[in-house]
Amino acid sequence: MKAKLIINKDFTVGEIDNRIYGSFIEHLGRAVYNGIYEPTHPTADDMGFRKDVLDMVNKLNVPIVRYPGGNFVSGYNWEDGIGPKEKRPRRAELAWHVIETNEVGIDEFQEWAKRANTEVMQAVNLGTRGADEARNLLEYCNFPKGTYYSDLRREHGFEEPFDIKVWCLGNEMDGSWQIGAKTAEEYGRLACETAKVMKELDPSIELVACGSSSLFMPTFGKWESTVLEHTYDYVDYISLHNYYGNRDNDTKAYLASSLDMDNFIKSVIAICDYVKAVKKSDKTINLSFDEWNIWFHSDEADKKLERWQIAPHQLEDIYNFEDALVVGTLLITLLKNCDRVKMACLAQLVNVIAPIMTENGGDVWAQTIFYPFMHASNYGRGVAFIPVVSSEKYDTERLKDVPYVEAIAVMNEEKKELTVFAVNRSLEDNIDFEIDLRDFTNVKLIEHIVLENDDMKASNTVDNPNNVVPHNNGVTKLEEDSAKATLNKHSWNVIRFQI
Ligand code: AHR
Repeated sequence: MKAKLIINKDFTVGEIDNRIYGSFIEHLGRAVYNGIYEPTHPTADDMGFRKDVLDMVNKLNVPIVRYPGGNFVSGYNWEDGIGPKEKRPRRAELAWHVIETNEVGIDEFQEWAKRANTEVMQAVNLGTRGADEARNLLEYCNFPKGTYYSDLRREHGFEEPFDIKVWCLGNEMDGSWQIGAKTAEEYGRLACETAKVMKELDPSIELVACGSSSLFMPTFGKWESTVLEHTYDYVDYISLHNYYGNRDNDTKAYLASSLDMDNFIKSVIAICDYVKAVKKSDKTINLSFDEWNIWFHSDEADKKLERWQIAPHQLEDIYNFEDALVVGTLLITLLKNCDRVKMACLAQLVNVIAPIMTENGGDVWAQTIFYPFMHASNYGRGVAFIPVVSSEKYDTERLKDVPYVEAIAVMNEEKKELTVFAVNRSLEDNIDFEIDLRDFTNVKLIEHIVLENDDMKASNTVDNPNNVVPHNNGVTKLEEDSAKATLNKHSWNVIRFQI
């Protein structure tokens, strides 16, 4: 099989906002406790954060991390997590039916974020609480001094404001599972009034309104338009959430999942622009795809979990090689839409549906999905070119015209590097892949990284952490105006050129 990518320097999707390589830490399972925080671990630092985990997070180069939820935030009292640890209350946490000890709260997470070289995307509770709580939290975090909450922060040892720029107005408020779920009208009004007080207090912040919890919600579409009709003038982004999975064990169909993501993004853009037109507004609402990943492996185990434990093994999907390929295509899809998707969060970061896994008191290791994310986050910065790809296609029962090759090129002007990301979805054939480089001069090949495996179900475990790892022996040859690469069957490829 053959395929071709044409890159034209003048046709760009747009500048990539680095925040599309964001992630997410929720108070859920072992994400916080025994994930990022384990004071008794041999690598724990002065605040109890695991340094081995921080090292792995730093490899992913994550610019923003959403916190503290997720479903958790809709029942959370942020005041429980500040001040002396011995005075913090334990709570029955109703989103995930566990005991929350509140050892880690807003203050500690800010410190962790500094150590992880990342920013915090802070969510407020619009489930059980509302505008009053949100403005108090914002005052605590961002107000310099001289008010009740800013001085309380200073009393707790944080003289300088946290200066959190991005705030989520609740979480998945359309979902019946959400504590304090709302209709679009109810949520739209609450989000609008909350946004107003927050922007009065700190006009420099950016706000994310909740979109639908997935493309398949019955209220999808109408939810977005109603929420935006209420909030348009006060918010900057609308959120998208979606998880994918190979529930029918149909790998060919599973590998086509990114077409759903693309459809979801395009539909939400259309709705944003419909509301813009109706309102005759000059303002454009952008997209924050702030929960995306694979989530299905742990479903059965989670049903059997005993309630009211502290930091149980919850949502601990062990990812395999085909999951990594899907994550690769999802990353390419975010890049293809980077003109409107300005933020995105791989949900989540540690232990809970995560690229990074830990053993309590033991090792840390990278799951298969760690690698495509790390490559995209490190090499996928700059400008994305419109991907003109010619490739043979296949049909699945639901999705038609699935191209065997999913690809995009990104130019990092600062580093003078051009990187092509490409997935070969074929389970049978290697593909001769031509990259048309006639717009570029002085091209040198840096490397061709490949993630491949004969076994689609191969995974990394604590005992075998290097079962699925990338190599850089991919075959790419430079010719006069092009590069000829081999995309091995079912593989993730990162082809890097110096320009
Ligand atoms: O990421 C896990 C959960 O998925 C989040 O808490 C929720 O927002 C979504 O349903």
